[in-house]
Amino acid sequence: MKPLYSRGRDRFKKLLLSIAKPTAHMDMAHAAEPLPGAPPDSPPGKPAWRCFSYDEIHRATNGFHGENLVGKGGSSEVYRGTLEDGAAVAVKRLMGAAACERRERDFLAELGTVGHARHPNVCALLGCCVDRDLYLVFAFSARGSVSAILHDGAAPAMGWEARYGIAVGTARGLEYLHKGCRRRIIHRDIKASNVLLTDDFQPQISDFGLAKWLPTEWTHRAIAPIEGTFGCLAPEYYTHGIVDEKTDVFAFGVFLLEVMAGRKPVDGTHRSLLSWARPLLKEGKTEALVDPRIMTGQGGGGGYEAEQARRLAFVASLCIRASATWRPSMSEVVELLEGAEIRRDRWAMPPEAEEGDDAEEPWSFDDLDEGTDDELDTPSSSSASSTSTT
Ligand SMILES: Nc1ncnc2c1ncn2[C@@H]1O[C@H](COP(=O)(O)OP(=O)(O)O)[C@@H](O)[C@H]1O
Ligand SMILES: [Mg+2]
Repeated sequence: MKPLYSRGRDRFKKLLLSIAKPTAHMDMAHAAEPLPGAPPDSPPGKPAWRCFSYDEIHRATNGFHGENLVGKGGSSEVYRGTLEDGAAVAVKRLMGAAACERRERDFLAELGTVGHARHPNVCALLGCCVDRDLYLVFAFSARGSVSAILHDGAAPAMGWEARYGIAVGTARGLEYLHKGCRRRIIHRDIKASNVLLTDDFQPQISDFGLAKWLPTEWTHRAIAPIEGTFGCLAPEYYTHGIVDEKTDVFAFGVFLLEVMAGRKPVDGTHRSLLSWARPLLKEGKTEALVDPRIMTGQGGGGGYEAEQARRLAFVASLCIRASATWRPSMSEVVELLEGAEIRRDRWAMPPEAEEGDDAEEPWSFDDLDEGTDDELDTPSSSSASSTSTT
């Protein structure tokens, strides 16, 4: 099938503009703020993103120079660039010429979801380019991903204050995706490499390649094939392919543990972060969950706040519950992280609901490559989906 974007740029652009239709519920406050690189005369309510020419992004990235390559994923390359007005941008080039149809679908899906979201903790889309290839242009997050910083053994350990700020900011961004924007968005791939950091450590949720709309009339949605990252998948998702916002809440719980402990969800030790942390959470051993590099103040970590650590551990333990109905919503997570009273009785589960929490993840760690350093994405990155209204 001929790729959509080569069937006629005008038609494709029309399609892009239809996706970008202003909506009454778009976060008007943010939509009205001009973004760097955005057309200066965007009327309020109009999306702040625009179409870039190939020449513009080519110039900005110095011809996609290797020195500007800041990230490489399964189906994309990301380059740092500077626009003519001086704005720092990240240009994401969609790769994979062999699967044009899928690329189109994923490209449109990512453009549709992230282009619709405007929040201080969601990576801002500045625009796209459909000349020659498919590109998305984002505001640049100068510090890279949380994962890269957390696991950089050569750099000083990330301090506690930054870690707690990342937890709260990411929770706010996710709450916005679930509740704040007109069409609810499930991200489906919340993990430390998809949360980026600005210069002042503001977390930015990024990579909407797997994101899905959740229309209001549906409570959840069945999706096949299963996609995402091992070690972060909620049980109802890997067993029944069911997603709703609680799937993201589960992944957010794993993210909290990773930020707190400085351990990867799966790191080749044949033991997942979850199976390591669950007994410690159950026994209330908060101290054992904190990254030893900040515990001892080594590597510039400088110690941690015990009360905040207890709060993080408590919230993580709720988020990673096997039973989705007993997990908190992201609004409840935000409240708890921002200091709401912790009422354990309010969150107590009946014993039968607790049983599932002891179940191991269904894959064998012996099957995984020991030497792997990164999170393991599920084999399929296609977003072929079937929907159900069950
Ligand atoms: N806006 C950005 N600012 C800075 N770096 C970015 C930005 N977007 C992506 N990156 C870098 O590129 C990597 C891959 O980007 P991502 O959108 O997650 O692509 P993929 O879908 O291939 O995983 C990220 O982990 C990050 O290091
Ligand atoms: Mg990614």
